[in-house]
Amino acid sequence: MISKKLNEEFNKQIMYEYYSAHLYLAMAAWAQDHDFPGLAHFMIMQGDEERIHAMKFFDYVVETAGSVEILGLDTPEFEAESMLDIFVDAYKHEQFVTSRIHFLMNLAHEEKDYAAVSFLTWFVDEQVEEEATFDALIKSVRMIGDNGNGLYQIDKELGSRAPATAEA
Ligand SMILES: [Fe+2]
Ligand SMILES: [Fe+2]
Repeated sequence: MISKKLNEEFNKQIMYEYYSAHLYLAMAAWAQDHDFPGLAHFMIMQGDEERIHAMKFFDYVVETAGSVEILGLDTPEFEAESMLDIFVDAYKHEQFVTSRIHFLMNLAHEEKDYAAVSFLTWFVDEQVEEEATFDALIKSVRMIGDNGNGLYQIDKELGSRAPATAEA
């Protein structure tokens, strides 16, 4: 059974994962406004993945006889004048989520809740991937700079991202 404290923090995490989806959807809207349809598609897929993360926490709380509470979401905040700004902000946000996952992992260890430790291990690994994805995109877009042809090409590549699955 999940402890009251961990249950509360997992409920907050459900909110943070939905907030991530919300943020990436706002970035997709920005991308549409700035004629980057591929980036918009990429961010919508990214948002779908975050909703899958939220539901993993939802299911875990239910399975461990906890009680899910759905909390409200803030309006997504980011400032972007370019595709690079979007990826920099997304990277910063993923670093924040990583710190949240590590906080939850510390709590699970303190409580000697090994089921929670095992569950959270997937998220520790996932966050390494999430940060690596945006870090790689920042590097690519920095290299391209203001080159219109390069931006067109990368937008096309971003548009080919496959739909999110529970494993990824
Ligand atoms: Fe996530
Ligand atoms: Fe993420």
